[in-house]
Amino acid sequence: MNLKAPPIREETRNRCVVVPLTNELSQKLVSVSLEHFHFLFDVQKVDFSLFVVVEGWLVEFIKAKEFSKELLDEVWSACLKPKGAFRVCIWKQDRPKFEAVINQIRSKKLSRLMAYVPHMDKKTLDVYNNLSASSQLVVKGGIDEEVVARVRASASQIVSSVLDSQAALYTLSKMITCDPTLYDHSATVAMMCAIISNEMVDRPMSEKEVMLVAECGLFHDAGKTCVPSEILNKPGKLTAEEFDEIKKHTVYGRDELLDSAKKGAPIQDLAIRVAYEHHEKFTGRGYPEGRKGRLESDPDTGIHLYSRICMIADVYSALLMKRVYKEAFEPGQALKIMIESNDDYDPVIFKPFVGMVVDSVKKFQNLAAPVTTLSYEKETKGKIIQVEPGRTAAESLRIAHEKSREKEKEKENENDLSEELRRKGA
Ligand SMILES: [Fe+2]
Ligand SMILES: [Fe+2]
Repeated sequence: MNLKAPPIREETRNRCVVVPLTNELSQKLVSVSLEHFHFLFDVQKVDFSLFVVVEGWLVEFIKAKEFSKELLDEVWSACLKPKGAFRVCIWKQDRPKFEAVINQIRSKKLSRLMAYVPHMDKKTLDVYNNLSASSQLVVKGGIDEEVVARVRASASQIVSSVLDSQAALYTLSKMITCDPTLYDHSATVAMMCAIISNEMVDRPMSEKEVMLVAECGLFHDAGKTCVPSEILNKPGKLTAEEFDEIKKHTVYGRDELLDSAKKGAPIQDLAIRVAYEHHEKFTGRGYPEGRKGRLESDPDTGIHLYSRICMIADVYSALLMKRVYKEAFEPGQALKIMIESNDDYDPVIFKPFVGMVVDSVKKFQNLAAPVTTLSYEKETKGKIIQVEPGRTAAESLRIAHEKSREKEKEKENENDLSEELRRKGA
C-alpha cells in the first residue's frame, strides 16, 4: 500500500491509534450513517469505539472511555466538509450495542412526538419504530439471515397492526415535518408500500402479498449503501457523472441482494427485482433499462406490480422531504406534483393512492391544531432540531449545526479536525 502521511493533525495522532486501512480491517468495520451518528449527541456514554476513515487511514477517534460531546462535535464538523472521503465506522461486532443506543433514542423521540403533536397515531409510530430499526441493518455486506428475518418481522407487523391508512399517512407526513431527524427513507417507503397495497381496489392483495411488498420497500434502496457516501451526502449540485453513479444504486442493489442470497440469506426474488426496477417509469422514461408498462402485459419489457407500487411510495416519500435540490412539500402539494406527471405511474395503483391522500388531507386539515413547536422545543431542550418542514435528517442537522458552529469559528480554526484534514488534502 502506497500511502502518504496520514492527513491528521499531530494532536490526534498522539491521542489516537492511527493505522492504514487494510482490506482485512475493512471487512471488520461497518459504516454509520450521518443521521444515526447525530443520535449519539443525545447520550452520555457508549461502550464501543467510534472510528473515522480518512484517505486510507483508520483512526480510533473516540474510545468508549473518552466519549464526549466535544469529540463528537469534531467528527461532525469533518463530516460537514464537502471535500475528502471521510466516514464514521464501528466494529461489526459492536453493531448490536450501537443499535441498542440508536433504538433507545428513536423511541424517546417518537414518544415526545406522540406527547406534543396532536392526532398522531400510536400504532403507526410503533410500526415505524420497528421498521426503522430494521432498515438500519440493511447495509453493504451486512444482509444476512438474521437481517432478513428482522426485516420480515417488521413487514409483518404492518399487517398485523391493521393500520388506518388515512391516520398512517397523516402521522408519517406530520412526523417528517415535526422532527426530520426521525425520517428514515426505507422505513417510510415500506410503510407507504403497505398502505398503497392495502387500498388496491381493482386488484385486491392478500395479507401475505402486502407483507412482501413492504419487505421489498425496506430493501428497495439496498444499493445506496454501495454508492460512495461523499456523493450520497454531497450538499451541492451533482455532476452528470455523480448522478450516473447514484443511478447505479439500482444495479448495485440487485447485485448486493443477489450476493447475500448466494451466501444463504433468504432474500425473496421479488425484493431483488424491486431493488433493480423501482426507478423504472410506466412510460419507459426511467432507469436502469427503460422498462415500460406492466409485466402482466409484456413479460419481456414490463415492470413488476410490486416495483410499480414501490415507485409511487418512493416518489411520494421523497417529495415530503426537503433536499438540497428541491423544496419540501405538504401532502397535497406532493400529490399535485405527482399528478402533473401521472403518465409515469400505473393508473390502477395511482388512482386509489390519490384518493387516499386527498381523503387523509381532508380528514386531518380541520382537525390538526398548529403543531406545538414551542413546547416541543422546550421539552427537548433544543436537542430536536426544528427546521423547515421536510428537510432530510442529514440536511436539517447540517444546517442547524453549521449555524451554531459559525459562532465558534475562531475556536474552530485552531481545533477543527476537518480544517486540518482539508489543509493536508489540498
Ligand atoms: Fe432508489
Ligand atoms: Fe428510494
